[in-house]
Amino acid sequence: MRVLSGIQPTGELHLGNYLGAIKTWLSLQEKAECIFPIVDLHALTVPYSPQQFQKLVMETVISYLACGIDPEKSLIFIQSEVPQHCELCWLLSTLTPLGELSRMTQFKEKRKELKKAVNAGLFCYPILMAADILLYRAEIVPVGKDQLQHLEFAREIARRFNSRFGKTLVEPQALVPKWGGKIMSLADPKKKMSKSLGEKHYLSLFAEPEEIRAKITEAVTDPGKEIKFSPQKKPGISNLILIYSLFSERTIKEVEREFKGKGYQFFKEALSQLLIEKLKPFRKKRKELLSREVYLREILDRGQRKAREIATLTLNEVKTKMGLI
Ligand code: ADP
Ligand code: TRP
Repeated sequence: MRVLSGIQPTGELHLGNYLGAIKTWLSLQEKAECIFPIVDLHALTVPYSPQQFQKLVMETVISYLACGIDPEKSLIFIQSEVPQHCELCWLLSTLTPLGELSRMTQFKEKRKELKKAVNAGLFCYPILMAADILLYRAEIVPVGKDQLQHLEFAREIARRFNSRFGKTLVEPQALVPKWGGKIMSLADPKKKMSKSLGEKHYLSLFAEPEEIRAKITEAVTDPGKEIKFSPQKKPGISNLILIYSLFSERTIKEVEREFKGKGYQFFKEALSQLLIEKLKPFRKKRKELLSREVYLREILDRGQRKAREIATLTLNEVKTKMGLI
């Protein structure tokens, strides 16, 4: 079984990235062939700083490893170092009706946000993502809920290619966790936790204890004081209960029972403690990796070589079927 997923180097990884995607990656790397690129080309579709970019890319590599992605088990590489992604993206773009791209929710939302700064790369983003996946004939793509539409698009493109040119590409399956596929913002629990919303909305996986405590204490809760899971009526506290449940590996019911009659402040203190303890190994590993540039470069070089090998096989077959070779 082959698995592929990637994260853009746009900033610090947060609880949503971990619970929605990386936690699933960790369990899959024990039993499948896993490929985890850092998808830097995707990150160019929104405003960014070229001077800061390499730092963000390396931060993301370090974050993968600090969370427990093991370079001996999984393939880690940088998307832009494997030119086949762009090449397949172009070929697939010729099979993509414009209407399908303009229906993408993420594009519509970002377009509103960016106004005139919106570019064609952002519009074509789902084709590049499909190329990332199809190039490796990945069967499983572990992602958060927000990526489901993009995955459906990748499946559709694979089907279209196969029916027009003959069976070549594999239709990938999204894998979204039953719980944790959509962790909400700490400051506005009606919205998805995201880096792009701003500092107070997310909790970094590498936050220091003081920051964890401050952000959890300030997290928006709901009227009342009961620790009760009800995402519609009590989105704030429900989000915190879910985070507690996923990190403590206890069911929501067990968490509710444990904190019955205890009030929000008590619960928030317990959640802060839990996160401080659970995130400690991530912080420690990240700090160790910060100075290991040569080691990181070796991993990426190895990843790049292996990725190119796999990608070239698929691309050659695609080009042959399309009449280019
Ligand atoms: P962000 O929205 O913060 O920029 P990314 O788009 O880089 O995050 O997401 C990387 C991965 O993390 C994707 O698989 C995405 O689905 C997942 N993810 C992002 N935010 C959340 C969230 N709030 N809850 C669950 N999964 C998430
Ligand atoms: N679009 C994904 C996100 O915003 C990132 C991504 C790019 C991706 N290529 C991918 C995810 C391939 C899974 C597989 O999070």
